[in-house]
Amino acid sequence: MNKSTTRIADLKHHVGATVTVRAWVTHLRSKGKLGFAVMRDGTGIMQAVVVKAEVSEAAWESFTQLTQEASVALVGEVRADARAPGGFEMGVKELTLIGASPLDYPIQPKEHGIDFLLDNRTFWLRSQRQGAIMRVRHELEQAVHDFFYSRDFIRCDTPILTAAIGERAGLFSTEYFEEGPAYLAQTGQLYGEALAASLGRIYTFGPTFRAEKSKTRRHLTEFWMIEPEMAWYDQDDNMDLQEDFVRYLVERVLERRQEELKVLERDTSKLDCVSQPFMRLDYGDAVKLAQSKGSDITWGDDLGAPDEALIVDEYQRPVFVVNYPKEAKAFYMKENPADPRTVRCADLLAPEGRGEIIGGSQREDDYDKILARLTHEGLPVEAYGWYLDLRKYGTFTHSGFGLGLERTIAWICGIEHIRECIPFPRLMGRIAP
Ligand code: 4AD
Ligand code: MG
Repeated sequence: MNKSTTRIADLKHHVGATVTVRAWVTHLRSKGKLGFAVMRDGTGIMQAVVVKAEVSEAAWESFTQLTQEASVALVGEVRADARAPGGFEMGVKELTLIGASPLDYPIQPKEHGIDFLLDNRTFWLRSQRQGAIMRVRHELEQAVHDFFYSRDFIRCDTPILTAAIGERAGLFSTEYFEEGPAYLAQTGQLYGEALAASLGRIYTFGPTFRAEKSKTRRHLTEFWMIEPEMAWYDQDDNMDLQEDFVRYLVERVLERRQEELKVLERDTSKLDCVSQPFMRLDYGDAVKLAQSKGSDITWGDDLGAPDEALIVDEYQRPVFVVNYPKEAKAFYMKENPADPRTVRCADLLAPEGRGEIIGGSQREDDYDKILARLTHEGLPVEAYGWYLDLRKYGTFTHSGFGLGLERTIAWICGIEHIRECIPFPRLMGRIAP
């Protein structure tokens, strides 16, 4: 960056001084010989005040030519003014147009349809609301690393091109030279398990891919997942960790991103519930509860989004639904010794009808049992040789989970649809921009 440029966020340190700001025009207004421009530079907004009598003719001429989204260099004196957007004003002395922006800039101050906004995502991202969501996303990503670093977890990166499949959801595949099909990773978990046997406690944080033909407000085809895997943790330890983790993430955003939450008009009192212990509800009881509220779910089904909403509504705080039926869940989950029809797993359901934000489980550590599950699921056993060997050479109790970043952002920010929670969403029917 040009060293002489002052960021709008830093104007508070320069009140009374003359500085240079480089920024884009968001709003323009003028009254005769007095002009106002609200400027945005990515760190904040400020109001630039241009008085015809106080600037050169060329500068006034440039001001009158400004349009929304033009980029400009401004030199002027910084004034604190509580009434100005952003709290600071610049009394402009010099104004130089850097990049003009024609009047047909696609996004105008009026209602646009969602498809139009998504087609113009590159510009939509310049809005205050989208900026606020991206900042919360950034805060959460940093919080994830801080949380695990402080607990001595090792971050490990796992492959995106894979031969083995982790989840049941749809697969994106491509031909991999002479090796046959390669799949885009649906999860880093299987590799995470191998790494846990090496390093003890690890986590992965990367993009994952699901060719799911679901057009819902909670599905992306490319999303980011945080997947910790812990040696010697059973499922209870696993849930304790998830609870600490989710509480930490929410508290961190509340502590550091109040301004963004205000822009998003988030009712933050709805997040206070994370300070209570999370509810832990057996799957069978969850089914009965949903049935009592009118759902036609029966024992054995995975919970649908409407069931999840009914269940969480009862408790008004995050709910772990524990020990699902084996058939509803992935092959790697550990059979529940207390009821072998079920597995030692939990989905964490977020409040306000958000549904599942975490899926996790203790892993099957018995070689024969996991081999039987793989075969039963019709998965190609040959591709899982290395994974099965983790049960052959020093098998170990271990557990882990996956938290979906975008669903977590949507819940914390109170965003209806997950498509706003990632810079460039990949959805069924959309791969551009
Ligand atoms: O429940 P899932 O499928 O679990 C796994 O992938 C495990 N391998 C995790 C583990 O134990 N290591 O996905 C985990 C989370 C979900 O709870 C959800 O938050 C998110 O990933 N997720 C999606 N987010 C957006 N779009 C999709 N299509 C998603 N599918 C799952
Ligand atoms: Mg799941």
